[in-house]
Amino acid sequence: MKTITISADLEVYDNEAELPGDVQSLMEQAIEAREKSYSPYSQFKVGAAILLDNKEVVTGSNQENASYPAGLCAERTAIFYAGAKYPEAKILKMALTARSENHQMEVPTPPCGSCRQAIAEYEVKQEQPIEIFFMGEKGKVVKSNSISDLLPLIFDNSYL
Ligand code: THU
Repeated sequence: MKTITISADLEVYDNEAELPGDVQSLMEQAIEAREKSYSPYSQFKVGAAILLDNKEVVTGSNQENASYPAGLCAERTAIFYAGAKYPEAKILKMALTARSENHQMEVPTPPCGSCRQAIAEYEVKQEQPIEIFFMGEKGKVVKSNSISDLLPLIFDNSYL
């Protein structure tokens, strides 16, 4: 028996203003998308903005449903739209933000496990890492250089 240690380096920015200019703008678009969230059940609004290598930005927000599992997270709304509209484009960066209508949220909010798996699929497909920046409502922003830093031991098509 031996132990395998899994570790990752994540960068932490103190606030949005400390981000590089293009990422600040992407985060602003994620905030705009967040406010368009349809989340009457959770009152939890999530926004995602994706920068593609063709310079287009695709955004999405979480869309809920009275039959709860039928809803979809912001990250997958955005990434599936990007895949559908620009199938040849590579995803360079994603900016994510979340806020609750019930309490202040200044803790950076990472993508859920299902969204990490969905993001991983596109990273594998495009053979190029995706930078992910995630924030709460405001405050600190965490950057991961690749989805594999947030989802080690990815299940991908090599296992099929
Ligand atoms: N949600 C997202 O949009 N992204 C995540 O990564 C976590 C959760 C949404 C799903 C649901 O509409 C609400 O937030 C509460 O879970």
